[in-house]
Amino acid sequence: MALFPRREKAPEADLEHLPRHIAIIMDGNGRWAKQRGLPRTAGHAAGAETFRTVATFAKDIGLEYLTVYAFSTENWKRPPEEVQAIMGLLEKYLHEAIGRMARDRVKMAFFGDLTPLAPKLQALCHETEEISRGYDGCQVNICLNYGGRDEIVRAARAFALDCAEGRADPNHLTEERFGNYLYSAGVPDPDLIIRPSGEVRLSNFLPWQSAYAEFYFTDVLWPDFSKEELLRAIAVYQHRSRRYGGV
Ligand code: FPP
Repeated sequence: MALFPRREKAPEADLEHLPRHIAIIMDGNGRWAKQRGLPRTAGHAAGAETFRTVATFAKDIGLEYLTVYAFSTENWKRPPEEVQAIMGLLEKYLHEAIGRMARDRVKMAFFGDLTPLAPKLQALCHETEEISRGYDGCQVNICLNYGGRDEIVRAARAFALDCAEGRADPNHLTEERFGNYLYSAGVPDPDLIIRPSGEVRLSNFLPWQSAYAEFYFTDVLWPDFSKEELLRAIAVYQHRSRRYGGV
């Protein structure tokens, strides 16, 4: 299996049998900018454009769930100007999304601890979730101040509290019940996880939910990712054989 299926003609994606849930690590913005002699923030701005294109396309082809890694619990270590720039791009996107929501019927959700974000951005996140709660279009989950291990520890803590206060019983804990304590409660696990930019690792992205996911790695940098790249990933996914431990 080629890790980086490249320019050879890709198999056609079958749009009648899409994966239900695609998750993407939007990586390579910094390198994209560096290659062009631009500041890293220009790479994030281009990455935000790609996100718009891909999310709109996902909605148009009828994908049910799209989850993207926008900002990790570790990304706070970046220079403050870069963190500010990413938060600014998110804010801009959410304002636009609110304007379009009723038409697109896209449902937005956030995975992560939003409390360290600026109050204005937190309010915007809650507003987009609230407005779109009843929408039935594609559900876009934005992982924001998200870390997979952090998510599992928080879930364990919440479950332990429920046990201590008599609302849950450790003997009755199942994988499904534990899943209800995660940010992703109610969302099916991703079928396909895409990581552009040539890195071949998960980087703390959905470790619980990815147990049976198919992975697609490409060396295309996120700002250069496109509808065609998404179709290529879907087509490759459709040629995989998923056995879930069976034969
Ligand atoms: C990783 O690339 C990218 C990020 C940490 C930020 C992703 C943010 C956006 C695409 C913009 C805002 C998002 C939305 C949803 C509007 P990198 O900087 O680590 O790239 P590098 O590995 O090449 O340095």
